[in-house]
Amino acid sequence: MRSVWITGASSGIGEALVREFVKQGWMVLAQARRQERLESLAREAPDRIYPFVGDVRDYATCESAVQVALRHLGRLDAVVANAGISHRALVEDISLAVLREVMETNFWGAVHAIKAALPLVKQQRGWIVGVSSIAGFRGLPARSGYSASKFALNGFLEALRVELYRSGVSVLTAAPGFTRSEIREKALTAHGVPQRESPIAEEKLMKAETVAQAIYRAMMRRQKYLILTAQGRWTVWLNKVVPGLLDGLMYRYFQKEEGSPLR
Ligand SMILES: NC(=O)c1ccc[n+]([C@@H]2O[C@H](COP(=O)([O-])OP(=O)(O)OC[C@H]3O[C@@H](n4cnc5c(N)ncnc54)[C@H](OP(=O)(O)O)[C@@H]3O)[C@@H](O)[C@H]2O)c1
Repeated sequence: MRSVWITGASSGIGEALVREFVKQGWMVLAQARRQERLESLAREAPDRIYPFVGDVRDYATCESAVQVALRHLGRLDAVVANAGISHRALVEDISLAVLREVMETNFWGAVHAIKAALPLVKQQRGWIVGVSSIAGFRGLPARSGYSASKFALNGFLEALRVELYRSGVSVLTAAPGFTRSEIREKALTAHGVPQRESPIAEEKLMKAETVAQAIYRAMMRRQKYLILTAQGRWTVWLNKVVPGLLDGLMYRYFQKEEGSPLR
């Protein structure tokens, strides 16, 4: 039976990915820091979901996750580096500590998981998936650290894809658009406190289940990129052809957000 290690599995897209892979007949190593969330998820399919509590910012923890996968699932066909956090504050206001924390989680956390999983995934000619963002193609105001972390991840994945050209391993850069999850309520303010409320109407956003299904489908087709939502695809395209025009559109769009720091 195929098996996958999913980071950031305790909520949002990661939690939906766990359910999607189980539905498709896979075994899952589900990693995050909140133990009770993972245990409750694992109770949905105790013979298929193996919870693993750990922080992706720590490489040794990621190496242990791989050992646990090998011991309990027998093999590792895929890793989905999904764990991530966000922030909302202008560059001139934000503390360097917050920018570093976002980079540690979103970039280094993904690098740790991917590097630790690579030898086993290569044995299976499997899949490496990085959950990036539209912000990995186009910088978003008041999300400079988040955007930088996703641009860095995109470059890392692209280089890795070429390294693995003859290996049979597929590398997918998955960039969801706005998706209903906990990410915005937990997003850090300038000094590292969660903002507590999402500034946008979450119920109008794409469902995490839709993203999970699309990622699974893209993996099975061995796609290189997945860019989700029409708005997301437009943003990536406009940024290529008229980046200056997009600056103005972005400014106005994000200035309208509830509590926007754009002045
Ligand atoms: N929602 C969107 O609009 C959107 C759009 C584009 C891309 N994305 C990307 O999708 C991914 C998932 O985000 P989401 O929207 O589903 O947000 P979410 O509901 O907040 O989920 C984030 C997950 O990451 C885990 N996590 C955070 N820091 C971690 C750490 N240091 N170690 C291990 N796990 C950690 C969290 O679990 P614990 O707190 O329990 O550790 C949680 O399971 C992120 O990479 C995000 O950038 C989201």
